[in-house]
Amino acid sequence: MDRFLVEGGKQLKGTVKISGSKNACLPILVASLLTDEPFILHRVPNLRDVRTTLKILTALGKKTHYENGTVTITADGPLKNSLPYELVKQMRASFWVAGPLLARFKSAEIPLPGGCALGARPVDIHLKGFEKLGADCTTERGNVLLSAQELHPAKITLRFPSVGATQNLMMCAALIPGETVLENIAKEPEIDDVAEVLLKMGAHVVTDEKGRLIIEGKEKLGGVEHTVVADRIETGSYILAAAATRGDVRVEGCVPEHNSILLEYLQEAGVPLEIGMDFVHVKPYQGALKPVRIKTAPYPGFATDLQAPWMALMILAEGASEVDEDIFENRFMHAPELVRMGANIVTEKSIARVSGVKELSGAHVMASDLRGGFALLIAGLCAKGTTEIERVYHIDRGYEDPEGKLNALGAHVTRYNPDKDDF
Ligand code: EPZ
Repeated sequence: MDRFLVEGGKQLKGTVKISGSKNACLPILVASLLTDEPFILHRVPNLRDVRTTLKILTALGKKTHYENGTVTITADGPLKNSLPYELVKQMRASFWVAGPLLARFKSAEIPLPGGCALGARPVDIHLKGFEKLGADCTTERGNVLLSAQELHPAKITLRFPSVGATQNLMMCAALIPGETVLENIAKEPEIDDVAEVLLKMGAHVVTDEKGRLIIEGKEKLGGVEHTVVADRIETGSYILAAAATRGDVRVEGCVPEHNSILLEYLQEAGVPLEIGMDFVHVKPYQGALKPVRIKTAPYPGFATDLQAPWMALMILAEGASEVDEDIFENRFMHAPELVRMGANIVTEKSIARVSGVKELSGAHVMASDLRGGFALLIAGLCAKGTTEIERVYHIDRGYEDPEGKLNALGAHVTRYNPDKDDF
């Protein structure tokens, strides 16, 4: 398996271009199951999870072509309505196919996505919503069996604004004629991108003055050509890498307002920023980095996906700060690895108490999830000496060409595979 060797003591300098959003393109690619017409998506990042999603669509009977950031999906005979466990176990987001398959076939059999490093990650909110739309949901032998005589529009209130459940239910409702109302929905920008695609396909999707999603579903949906929104988590990750290394980096092709709370906290910490329409320029600074407490929350709150990269910044602040992870029950796996690099972090339940240190030292560490892996990259760039990061496949799930983008900013990150390369 690939590893990264990261040379420390680097200040990042230059310009980095942000890719299309992983967490928008995955559900949008799945929305292609709602139609047999051609489905073209631009600015699709070349990520492990994208390639897995294309394998899933092919397994379900679609023809997919991916070249220079554009994915073209066409019908290739009848669709299947069940998925092999092999594919679902690789990526939780594969469960998003349930909504479209249920809407098209009134039945679907999808393996239950297991938990992952972040926690149990149940799908109860998805299933409750499908039941409200008229489906029977049973689980047996690790599979979810969905079936319905008839599906009908409904008013569904989510018990928690789950991103995945919002998207799954939106896609299902888009093919159910009539008005479905989703309440207490996730408001992440990726949801807006999925809504825009469904609108282009012929479903009428609007948010009303109460913030509810109103979906006017149709019997049939058409094809679409769409460009994926910028990845706000990749944006925040590179902004934090620039700030941690006290570099001078212009992050381009992003939507700064999608990262507004991060930018606010960075300025509170003393990081000078120039914020444009589609770029954020992180400026170098000499003074102390001030500690700032964060608490993760559904959008527009502080993104749980930026919690680990944020911690990689706070471990170098002057003073004590707290990171309160309120979305996932187990999202501090990066903390012990950062401690091995000299950070001072004590975690207790959902709180990580960080006491800033003057210096980090390179160490042999292991990534346990994609955002925690990027936090180790940030710490490695700041540390004294070389850091070796194992299980880079986690980082490859969510970051397009990470070493290429970082090295173009003056980093020295080498990818190697000890089983192949005689390094
Ligand atoms: C999406 O996951 C993202 N993944 C995650 O990004 C992100 O961390 C998460 O939203 C929160 O923003 C994709 O978009 C592919 P949730 P999702 O349903 O939809 C609980 C990354 O780093 N929950 O909003 O699975 C759940 O256990 C990944 O790019 C239920 O209890 O997140 C969690 O504690 C990691 N029952 C919380 O809600 C349910 O039915 C948030 O989950 C669904 C969720």
